[in-house]
Amino acid sequence: MRADGIDVISFGAGEPDFNTPKPICDAAIEAIETGFTKYTPSAGIKELKEAICGKLSRENGLTYSPDQIVVSCGAKHSIYNAIQMLVDPGDEVILIAPYWMTYADQVLLAGGVPKVVYTSAANGFEPELDQIKAAITDRTKAILLNSPSNPSGGVISDDVLAGISELAQRHDFWVIADEIYERLVYGVTPKSFATFGAQDRTITVGGCSKSYAMTGWRIGFAACPLPVAKAMSNFQDQVTSNPNSIAQKGAVVAFNLPASTVEDMRVEFEARRDLIVRLLTDIPGVSILPPKGAFYAFPDISAHLRPGESDLDLAAELLEKAHVAVVPGSVFEGPGHIRLSYATSRKNIEEGVRRIKDALSHR
Ligand SMILES: Cc1ncc(COP(=O)(O)O)c(C=O)c1O
Repeated sequence: MRADGIDVISFGAGEPDFNTPKPICDAAIEAIETGFTKYTPSAGIKELKEAICGKLSRENGLTYSPDQIVVSCGAKHSIYNAIQMLVDPGDEVILIAPYWMTYADQVLLAGGVPKVVYTSAANGFEPELDQIKAAITDRTKAILLNSPSNPSGGVISDDVLAGISELAQRHDFWVIADEIYERLVYGVTPKSFATFGAQDRTITVGGCSKSYAMTGWRIGFAACPLPVAKAMSNFQDQVTSNPNSIAQKGAVVAFNLPASTVEDMRVEFEARRDLIVRLLTDIPGVSILPPKGAFYAFPDISAHLRPGESDLDLAAELLEKAHVAVVPGSVFEGPGHIRLSYATSRKNIEEGVRRIKDALSHR
């Protein structure tokens, strides 16, 4: 539509609209200029693994040795490697809905079976322990946690994390903790899942895509028990070899930077979150739980759906008639909602939500 000259406002972006901080870019340029452009060890250079261990110790209170770290081409790749190594055909993996759709597809790619636990705004998009208990069977191989969450912006409380940690140990399953949005939090300071006592069965996944505005660099990591790290590293060795050498040099700088370097970005996201929540709350028939993390608003628009209509229909209509792009909640197993990324300017947020309000008032 944009190519046809239509002024579309997009709330679709899954990435910060900021530039990568300069010291990171400088390190990558230096890597090119000094010829650091060859293969590296498959699981990443030692310097980067050490920087990740330093970050995990400093910021997350977790002790890992460099041989427990596998650096991959983004956190998505880390999660894929972990699922491929842990999940056998027929194994069940518990997912907390609404979830990032990649999880379900990656479980299916391994021949696994997603077991979905549903949450809603009413309980802060947080699973109840009883729901998780009810989903556990003798085929449960793992649970996938994502806090702060894409798409809901929910953050799982310490009590629930501690309960899941206890369940994982009691029922002998793995936990893949996707903490990619850990730095983008508003008024809360979530703890890493592995600090709750199940580090020996946890794959902690992180990266620099969201925290340092480095989505295109493709660097993510998994921190895990040594046998899992070895398996993931061997697997990656036969699939992609090392992540990009130049990006690894940039990531070394990123993981050594103090959190204050990207504080301006977090503060701006918080202001946009406040803005979009205020504007969406102002639309009759739309309700939203203020997100505590990431950069997504996930309002409930079900009151605007006519009989037989879904959020997919509404999202299509918003695009066609209001020229606003949103992601329908159903793709995240969150029907009746739409996802709006506020990784866009305040001006776009104001104009985009105005268009949505206008379109909904004329239905
Ligand atoms: C929940 C979640 N995990 C992981 C990723 C992927 O991050 P990366 O760019 O490091 O692969 C995303 C990207 O949108 C995400 O939303």
